[in-house]
Amino acid sequence: MRFDYYNPTQLTFGAGSISRLGEVTAKYGKRALLVTGGGSVKRSGTFDRAVKSLEAAGLSVFECAGVEPNPKITSVKRGATIARENDCDVVVALGGGSTMDASKVIAASVLYDGDPWDMIFHGQENVHVPTEALPLITIPTLAATGSEANNGAVISNEDTQEKSFVKADCLYPKAALLDPELTLSVPKNQTSYGVCDLITHVTEGYLNSTDTTPIQDRFAEGVILTAMEYGPKAIADGSDLEAREQVQWAATLALNGWVQAGGGSTGYPVHMMEHTVSAYHDITHAAGLAIINPAWMRFAAKTNTAKFVQFSERIFGLKSNGPDDLDCALAGIDRFETFLKSIGCPTRFSELGIDDKLIETYAKETLRIINDGNGNLPGVPLMSEQDIIDVLK
Ligand code: NZQ
Ligand code: ZN
Repeated sequence: MRFDYYNPTQLTFGAGSISRLGEVTAKYGKRALLVTGGGSVKRSGTFDRAVKSLEAAGLSVFECAGVEPNPKITSVKRGATIARENDCDVVVALGGGSTMDASKVIAASVLYDGDPWDMIFHGQENVHVPTEALPLITIPTLAATGSEANNGAVISNEDTQEKSFVKADCLYPKAALLDPELTLSVPKNQTSYGVCDLITHVTEGYLNSTDTTPIQDRFAEGVILTAMEYGPKAIADGSDLEAREQVQWAATLALNGWVQAGGGSTGYPVHMMEHTVSAYHDITHAAGLAIINPAWMRFAAKTNTAKFVQFSERIFGLKSNGPDDLDCALAGIDRFETFLKSIGCPTRFSELGIDDKLIETYAKETLRIINDGNGNLPGVPLMSEQDIIDVLK
């Protein structure tokens, strides 16, 4: 087992953490660009609390509102313009993964003279991998993506029907204020999707890893089991702060690199396929994951059987006849799909009104955006174009 682990984001966890926003942000700048989504933070009063805290610490606040779910490159450009026009020297992201992702690319775009889309990996060498960005503070209002404490962002381009990612160390937020109270207003469906997203982040590492990682496996299983225990509680009663806390922490841990360290994890095949479908249909990210992940699992279990057997045994308490017991692996996947249905996630594209007309296009497009150099999608096992078509079908 070998790995480098780097994550410089300072985490402050706990109900009421938002009151420290001004104090934390003032360490990095005086003129803050405050980025928000479609209005939920205004309705909940969170926006006013953030502005008050920033202003009390002596910061001037400039707003970029209206970042949409599946954030568009046009929103990034708009945010960068507002930041430039107002000489902003720090960016504050207040919202879900979409707002945080847009904020990351805004923070880098302010210091880049070219087209921000250059920074998004879209099928060839990045034209520009960002190496500098304004300091960023994140305050997630939805527990899902883990974007608050990682170096990735996912952006869509309507003109080219692409949705893809950028990863760069300069995009790590300086600090993240994890305030589970802010997630109390998240509606049931978004809470379910958040649970699905975070679990998928863990399974993408756990089930695609190529090395023996007993400690990481236990961390991963701990995150999955905690999300499966507290997620349904948060969905049943949105005001259950203890449940919200556990889901929030699970979401951050699921994609800050900690559980993935050492696994030699090769690729995020489920995410890569989902991003392509999202680019065509603008569906909720985790709704796409809930459909694709169990199908991908059934495909991958034939190759990486022992890991799936471990998943079935340790997550669902099933008994196997040994590490090559495919029936046990498949039974665990059935149980996982049943869990997703029980929390209200779709598990077939037809539930979203999407038919199979464009499936070959999704497969080609996924491989155009990312492949291993031999035309296969990275993962365990590698996926050919036909494999992608079969899984999506
Ligand atoms: O836009 P507003 O009005 O804020 O409403 C949002 C939005 O409608 C709402 N919401 C957020 N916080 C709320 C709330 N509603 C009530 N109360 C609150 N406290 O929830 C809706 C969805 O928000 P969004 O930010 O789109 O959701 P999520 O956090 O799931 O982010 C999804 C995006 O993140 C990308 C996805 O592809 C997608 O574009 N991802 C980013 C990753 C990363 N940076 O590491 C990894 C992920 O795998 C994912 O790909
Ligand atoms: Zn995700």
